[in-house]
Amino acid sequence: MTSTPTADLVIIANRLPVDRTQLPDGTDGWRRSPGGLVTALEPVMRANDGAWIGWPGAADDDLEPFVEDGLQLVPVHLTADEVEEFYEGFSNGTLWPLYHDLVAKPEFHREWWDAYVTVNQRFADKAVEIAAPGATVWVQDYQLQLVPQMLRDQRPDLRIGFYLHIPFPPVELFSQLPWRRQILEGLLGADLIGFQLPGGAGNFVRLVRKRVGHKTHRDTIYLPNGRQVRAAAFPISIDTAGFEELARSEAVEQRAKEIREAVGSPRKIFLGIDRLDYTKGIYARLRAYGELVEEGRLDPADAVFIQVATPSRERVEQYRILRDEIDRLVGHINGDLGRIGVPPISYLHASYPREEMAAFYRAADIMVVTPFRDGMNLVAKEYVACRLEDDGALVLSEFAGAADELRQAWLVNPYDINGMKSALMDAFHADDRDTRRRMRALRKTVVEKDVARWAASFLEAMDEVPDHHDKSVRPTAEGDPGANR
Ligand code: F6P
Repeated sequence: MTSTPTADLVIIANRLPVDRTQLPDGTDGWRRSPGGLVTALEPVMRANDGAWIGWPGAADDDLEPFVEDGLQLVPVHLTADEVEEFYEGFSNGTLWPLYHDLVAKPEFHREWWDAYVTVNQRFADKAVEIAAPGATVWVQDYQLQLVPQMLRDQRPDLRIGFYLHIPFPPVELFSQLPWRRQILEGLLGADLIGFQLPGGAGNFVRLVRKRVGHKTHRDTIYLPNGRQVRAAAFPISIDTAGFEELARSEAVEQRAKEIREAVGSPRKIFLGIDRLDYTKGIYARLRAYGELVEEGRLDPADAVFIQVATPSRERVEQYRILRDEIDRLVGHINGDLGRIGVPPISYLHASYPREEMAAFYRAADIMVVTPFRDGMNLVAKEYVACRLEDDGALVLSEFAGAADELRQAWLVNPYDINGMKSALMDAFHADDRDTRRRMRALRKTVVEKDVARWAASFLEAMDEVPDHHDKSVRPTAEGDPGANR
């Protein structure tokens, strides 16, 4: 038994909500990750003696549970082989492309699957140790789909939720997976399974009916043992108030000015910010932009495209190939179409803290988010949150989950290069009234539906699933699980 105190709320995610950093005195320490998930869950974790189980992000890091800024963190150890086979392999070489509509070809390897089972069991075992009797355990994302049933086998007293942050694919695509039935059964260990969109939840229910044979009605699955599982959509969001506050700050305003000047104070700045991932459509977007410059429809003195590509999964081959392709394309566009001191594209291969991201959002007139497939895409929502004056245009792929809510964006099909070129030009030439009308509506959505509301609605829905449990997650002092964010 570990010395970690037991918890009434346990979050299990592939990664811990902290990153390693060097402290001012030169020693190693931890810094809260910038993601919205931890911001949303922090108050409810504090109110419920919460603990967070996750991988610290490096191979063979043997760490004891620790407390960081009042949060109980429980590290899971992965060997170098497991990082290769579970994380880079099955999670990001098999499931990631399969769940993103085969944007790249998934690889199926039996030893990757074995590692996935082993590591999922390790995460589940940690939760079995630290979850208090009747606790709520909330499992996050595609890396851990077997954990719900592994938990239920050992701890039927727990209330178990699962949330998938990426798309859930159509029946025909999912059915390629040699271990399709095991994944479905793993997920069915949960009381509630959350998806970004109703389409994903529908795909899951259909698959359960077809491949496992359980009875279903609307969003409910009836297991032969009398248990019910609900599969429904809970579109995730961002810490809107946090981004607004950043965008309002003097420092960010000043930095946004510096960014505009640094790229030559053009009439309009286009911006892309993505993880360097083949699902994000970075190559096609820059190609479309390059053609506009080549055809003389955009003059590099009038417009600059700032593309930030955050390094990601760099040891996975598909990601290395993509990086080289984009390097070549940007080199070609800037080399062939730029003039001295006026490159059409300002390309940054780096990751930045939230403050710098907010400054980019403030500096940009047109935000371009064109993934081939994306569970939600929080960058689109962050941009909207930072446009305090209701100005700025959003060009958004219809295949991003965010397009379901952000209907007033300039919606595009990222496979249609000419269509993208037209949308970029429409956004470039849009009059102020149209732009403001659209942005006002977009902002209303992002302000109303923030990540605290997302977390609260999921946890409330867990309480409503009919079951044998007697303990529910206690709301925070303000009466709502996310209220004191
Ligand atoms: O979108 C899915 C996701 O796993 C996010 O949760 C995460 O922030 C991002 O992809 C990057 O993932 P990784 O942990 O592989 O760096």
